[in-house]
Amino acid sequence: MAVPEAASPVQLCRIMRPDDANVAGNVHGGIILKMIEEAGCLVGTRHCNTQNKDCCMAALVRVEKTDFLAPVFIGEVVHVSAEITYTSKHSLEVQVKVMAENILTGSKKLANKAALWYVPCSLQNVNKIMEVPPIKYASVEQEEEGRERYEAQKLERLETKARIEEVLPPPPNREQYSIGFSQSTLIHLVGPSDCTIHSYVHGGVTMKLMDEVAGIVAARHCNTNIVTASVEAINFHRKIPNGSVVTLVGRLTFVSNKSMEIEVLVDASSLMEKEKYRAVSAFFTFMSLGQDKQPLSVPPLKIHGEEEQRRFEDGKARYLQNKAKRLAEKERQM
Ligand code: COA
Repeated sequence: MAVPEAASPVQLCRIMRPDDANVAGNVHGGIILKMIEEAGCLVGTRHCNTQNKDCCMAALVRVEKTDFLAPVFIGEVVHVSAEITYTSKHSLEVQVKVMAENILTGSKKLANKAALWYVPCSLQNVNKIMEVPPIKYASVEQEEEGRERYEAQKLERLETKARIEEVLPPPPNREQYSIGFSQSTLIHLVGPSDCTIHSYVHGGVTMKLMDEVAGIVAARHCNTNIVTASVEAINFHRKIPNGSVVTLVGRLTFVSNKSMEIEVLVDASSLMEKEKYRAVSAFFTFMSLGQDKQPLSVPPLKIHGEEEQRRFEDGKARYLQNKAKRLAEKERQM
């Protein structure tokens, strides 16, 4: 079997409109996540259909940790480019770059860089996972680096499996700055416009809803304008069919001086049955911004009980690890 080149990179671009804005007037992080996923799905689906006889669609199964590097403003043009960087037997990695262009001055800035993993699911039988046509790599080193990323995420997935079994906390506590005070729920009825041609929810739609509920939690805690700073790796464990009721719960886990970590748990159920299953969960980090768009201090979090303390310590460990990684990256660039 001839090894095809990777499908040509996909480029999407569109001007940001007022309905893409958050309450602060900047482009919503969820809109950027949705565009990233659209580009990834396109390049992945195109590639997987180059050799498979059975037509398929690339389903999003994972997004690696991603940082929002610069705010995007209404009126700017967002350019999203996506290319396949690694293929395993049944999955493929897509790397996506988001640039924001000021069309008045021509200046461009890097707004986001993300890596996503897709799995091709047959159009005839959504539960049938297809093989991914391999790609040609520019060098042996490039293939080796891809394999290392693949092995690393596989290992990390084993560790995150337990979190999806976690049950929701008891009724919220109403004391200001406690976790219960800002805990928020968003309920969404899935319709055809949320879905792929398989009639299952697009990963990008779910990420946008997740960003929305996390933003509500952050704003309720600090009562200021807030922005998405980063998202930890997300695994999409289960599909969500058209007609489902999706319940998204966001709760603060950890607060540092100037950042808030929010855990978002996404459960789905059918309209008629109450029984839910955990489809996705993730940690979002938000920052509070002043009028001058500079980060503000965040009120400390009031912790009640051992369970909240445990989640706080886990969040603190992620925060410290990310901070150390950012510092190391800065030093490497100097
Ligand atoms: N991240 C990266 N790769 C993943 C993954 C994840 N979270 N989950 C599965 N994979 C890869 C595996 O590595 C394997 O590829 P390989 O054989 O080349 O290593 C391939 O997917 C199949 O894995 P398998 O264990 O057989 O399948 P599964 O039981 O994990 O199910 C899906 C895979 C796609 C059916 C299931 O994860 C699913 O339905 N997810 C939801 C997809 C979706 O609806 N996305 C939008 C969400 S809103």
